[in-house]
Amino acid sequence: MTTFTINGRAVDVAAEPDTPLLWVIREHLKLTGTKFGCGIAQCGACTVHIDGEPTRSCQTFLEDVAGREVTTIEGLSPDASHPLQKAWISEQVPQCGYCQSGQIMQAAALLEHTPAPTREQIIAHMDGNICRCGTYVRIISAIQRAAQEG
Ligand code: FES
Ligand code: FES
Repeated sequence: MTTFTINGRAVDVAAEPDTPLLWVIREHLKLTGTKFGCGIAQCGACTVHIDGEPTRSCQTFLEDVAGREVTTIEGLSPDASHPLQKAWISEQVPQCGYCQSGQIMQAAALLEHTPAPTREQIIAHMDGNICRCGTYVRIISAIQRAAQEG
């Protein structure tokens, strides 16, 4: 049994210690906003925060999060009112949508540390999050909007 906090709630999960955190989130805790893309930490679809840091949950294991705080897209705000979520809607960022929760979680960590990032800082920070639909221009615009309006 491994105990950790997810979206402010303490949970006990009965699974092997080397179970990928992504599986724990989706299969055990039924939080399906976090997506499986590559499984090898190369696309960012599975990005969550662990103690506030953006982390690829496909290559993080249950034993790694014992006693720590995990935040998924479902826990980013109680009512989808995070400045990034509002900006994502205003800029109509998603196409298929598959990568977008990972994009938002990655972006949220940037604004946490750097509330007014330059375009170059945004591009550098978001570099590892792949979008097969090519929504990159709108992602950058939405992050800039969230920084201004947040
Ligand atoms: S599924 Fe984790 S980085 Fe691609
Ligand atoms: S919106 Fe389709 S992969 Fe990004």
